[in-house]
Parts: sequence; structure tokens; C-alpha cells
Amino acid sequence: MTRFALITLLVGASITAFAQNPYQYTIQKTATAKNGAVVSAHPLASQAGLLMLQKGGNAIDAAIATQLALAVVYPGAGNIGGGGFMVLHLADGRNMTLDFREKAPLAGNRDMYLNEKGDADLTKSQNGHLAAGVPGTIAGIFQALPYAKLPFKTIIQPAIDLAEKGFAITEAEAKDLNDDKPDFLKYNTRPTAFVKEQEWKAGDTLLQKDLAKTLERIRDHGQKGFYEGRTAQLIVAEMKRGKGLITLEDLKKYQAVWRTPVSFQYKGYEIITMPLPSSGGVLLPMMMKMTEKFPISRYGFHSDSALQLMTEIERLAYADRAKFLGDPDFYPVPVNALTSDEYINQRLKLYTPGIAGNSQVIQAGTVPKESEQTTHFNTADKDGNAVAITTTLNGGYGSHTVVGGAGFLLNNEMDDFSVKPGVPNMFGAVGGEANAIEPGKRMLSSMTPVIALNNGTLAIVTGTPGGTTITTSVYQTLLNLIDFNLSPADAVNKPKFHMQWLPDQVFVEKDFPQDKIEALQKMGYKVVNRGRIGRTELIVRQADGSYEVIGDSRGDDSAAGY
Ligand code: DON
Repeated sequence: MTRFALITLLVGASITAFAQNPYQYTIQKTATAKNGAVVSAHPLASQAGLLMLQKGGNAIDAAIATQLALAVVYPGAGNIGGGGFMVLHLADGRNMTLDFREKAPLAGNRDMYLNEKGDADLTKSQNGHLAAGVPGTIAGIFQALPYAKLPFKTIIQPAIDLAEKGFAITEAEAKDLNDDKPDFLKYNTRPTAFVKEQEWKAGDTLLQKDLAKTLERIRDHGQKGFYEGRTAQLIVAEMKRGKGLITLEDLKKYQAVWRTPVSFQYKGYEIITMPLPSSGGVLLPMMMKMTEKFPISRYGFHSDSALQLMTEIERLAYADRAKFLGDPDFYPVPVNALTSDEYINQRLKLYTPGIAGNSQVIQAGTVPKESEQTTHFNTADKDGNAVAITTTLNGGYGSHTVVGGAGFLLNNEMDDFSVKPGVPNMFGAVGGEANAIEPGKRMLSSMTPVIALNNGTLAIVTGTPGGTTITTSVYQTLLNLIDFNLSPADAVNKPKFHMQWLPDQVFVEKDFPQDKIEALQKMGYKVVNRGRIGRTELIVRQADGSYEVIGDSRGDDSAAGY
């Protein structure tokens, strides 16, 4: 019999140690754990993190091992050729946020995706070599490494093994690889591990020998194993073959940066999240501060009043996203003004209960001047350290371009810039000056990893992929837990909705209750079905100190702990 993956769904099973067999593994949607927990988009990546905890590592060891393993077993979004954000809570009380978002290459400029007529050519910002920003993931890992406990060679080994020896792919992965085969063929200059003659099917082995070698160079030479030497040369050679812009200088100069966390109070919780260039760091506090002015828990989960209020709050916040938000290293974003009580009160004057707002009428506010593919994972350890990371290539399999000889996919994050004012990107987001392309600038993101504390103690670790739906999904997950008292599993799995100002529509998941859709339509909303929204991962610390761990039912997401 050929090797195959036994993929079973264990709902509600309590955690037991299961074999590290990359050909026979289980997707586990929930776990209860005393000593440590990991939840990510793929069971083998969650297992890699769990292994670090079991070896005496902490939440940071587990997070780095999970990130690296995701780059192998979940190539659609896990990555070393992309970037992301990390929120870190240390048991000694420190909260930190790490920005390893990609940057525009130094040769980039604001008009680089405009054709001769001045029209935006989105195929170039979304596919192939020119779509790639300078990757940040490996720099992020090495910034975080001083907070880990285990030797790096131990942390990276599961990823090397999975790349070198292969693993069985899931049904979802097989489908995605088959769907994207034409893009892999179109946007690569060398054969890649992701294309084979026959159709992929569940249980097929994915071998990534070039990637294993790249990971070994990172193991042996640290950050320089990626940003300098052979890997850097392979990236630049790939860029030359495909007319991309990333140079040796871009790579050498790349730095991940610690930024001051966004932190605000919400009903007894301290919510900690990523600041700009995450738009979530501005929108989440705006939305939650607006929400706080209403008795929303009395309205109830998915009540007409709650749905309408939250939709309008999302509209108000996203209208400001388009105008004001961009990389704060390049553009003076009025963050304090936008999240001030005075401004929140002024914005809420535009809200009329029971009646749909209108995005033509509701525009970005006036503030005083001031000087789909992504993945999220969480880890927590027995001491109460915790990590929330959202990391991305942007679209599924990013630019579809694999660095020849190095075996990893490059992102298509350049599309997160505003390539032309008012032209929607792949998530329908529009922007302007604040998020225009400039050399070395970071593109605005929606990624919103969150850690919430209760009386200074770890309470909630969460986040999700989903482009512009990320911030609204995180907002709804937090409200589901804090205001609507839903169980952690329901907080993640109950259908979500999304409004982002433009287009002036409420997107709902396909299992959103029909009577709720009709109630929204009666109030004047255009409701549009959107398949699935997000893949939210959640760890909740319970009163007895144990962790309840939830992997979103929308994908292969899997919880682990012990
Ligand atoms: O940073 C961002 O906002 C986007 N690049 C995220 C993309 C994403 O979530 C796609 N996943 N479904």
C-alpha cells in the first residue's frame, strides 16, 4: 500500500500525545491543555510547536517552530518568503509587538503598476516577480529568538525534516495545488515542487528538497543564511530571470522592528494588538471603543440591533482606513486623534439605529493634524507566556513564484499598497497617499494578532487570516467571548459578517441565518454571500489556569497541547 494520510476529525477530544508521523496525522479541532498549547492552520505545524513545549521550550520556541513548519506543510500561506506580525506577552508582564512586514524594494515607486495609459495593472501587483515585497519572516524569527529557550537547530529541525523527507498533503492542499497549477506554470522560471504531471490527491507526498537546503543554510548561518550568501544570490538571480526588483542591497538592509504595542481597555480586559502598519491596531480600538457606548450584550448575539450596530461601526472605521492609514515610518498617521473619545463620539453621530448607512454619505472623518493567503497561529506555555502571529504571502501561494533552487514561494504583498488612488486591491480595499508605494516602505496590512489580559493575566490569544475581513473577524470573536458569552468554539465557528465601507455591502458567510439576512435587507442593507470568512484560531485561559484551544472548523486548522 502506498503511503497515505489518515485525516480524521476529532471534535471535542481531549488531547493525548499523538505520533509525529507526517504520513498519518489527525486534525484535532479542540484541545484542553495544562502545560502548553498550539493552534495553527495545519496539524503537523501545531505538532512541531507542541514538540518544542514538550522539550522544555516556551511559547516563543513553539511559535518559531510552528512558523517554520507552516512554511513547509502549508505553502499557500505559511512562509519564509513573506512577512507578518507577532504579539508577545511574557509571563513577567511585558507585552511586545514585532513587525516583520515586507517592504517595497528600493527600486519600487508609486507608479510601478501603471501602464502607458495610467491605468493600474493589477496582474503585476498580484502575480509573479514584480508583486513581491522584500521578505521579513526570517528577520522576524531572529528578532524573537532571544526570548526562546531552545537551541535554534532544535527549533528548525521539524521543518527541515518535513521538507527533506516529505509529508502527506491534505485534501484541501491537493485541491489548492491543482487549482493553482496554471499560475505555477506561468509565473516560474524553473520547475517547482508544487507542480506534477498528474492531479494532486489527498495523501500524496510533497517533497521540498531545495527548501530543506535553504532551511539548513538558515540553521547554519542564522539571518545571514537567508538575507546574504547563497539564498540571497538565488533570490536575486530569480528576480533577474523574471524582471523583479529585489536586490542584494534590499535583502541585506531588511530589518524586523519591535514596535510599541497598541493597548486599550475593554470591559475589564486589556486588549493588546499590533500597531501600524497593521490597520487593525487603529481599527480594532476604534470599533471596540464605539461598541462600548452601547448595551450590546443586552442586544444579544446576532440580534438585529447588534448586527446593525456592528455593521455601521465597521463602515465608520473602514472609511478612515482608506484615507489615513499607511506605514507610520513614511506617513504621519493621526493615530491618537482617530482613537480619541472626542473623535469616536463625533463619528457615532453618523449612526442611525435601524437604518442602513450609506458609504457615499459617510466618508472618512476630519481629524486634527498631528506631529486570501495568510495564516494565524497561537502558542501559550505553562508559565503564561503567549504568542499570537499572523503571517502572510498575501494571496494563496503569494506571487506563485518560487525562488529557483531555494524552493520557497515569494509573496505578492505589493498589492497591499494602494497601486493607484481609489483602485481596489484584491481585497477590495482602496487607499491613497498614506499607502502609496515608496522605496523601502511597508504596505498597509489588516493582520490583527491579539492577546487579551484580565487583571494582568493571560486570558485570550487570537487572530485570523482573511484580508480586510481580518479586523472585523477579530472584533467579532472578541465580542462573542466578552459581550455575548459564547463558548470559545462558538466564538470561532459561528458565522461571521463583514462591512468595509466600500463596497457598500454586508458580506455574510454561507451559513449565515436566512432570517438575519432578511432583517438586514429590511433595514436597507445589500447583503452578499461570501463563502467563508477567516480561519480564526483561539486559546482561552480558563479559571483553573488550563487552556481551551480551538482550531477553526473552516479549514485543516488543528489544536495541540498537553
Ligand atoms: O496583510 C494583509 O492585510 C493581507 N496581505 C492579508 C492577506 C490575507 O489575509 C489572505 N488570506 N486569506
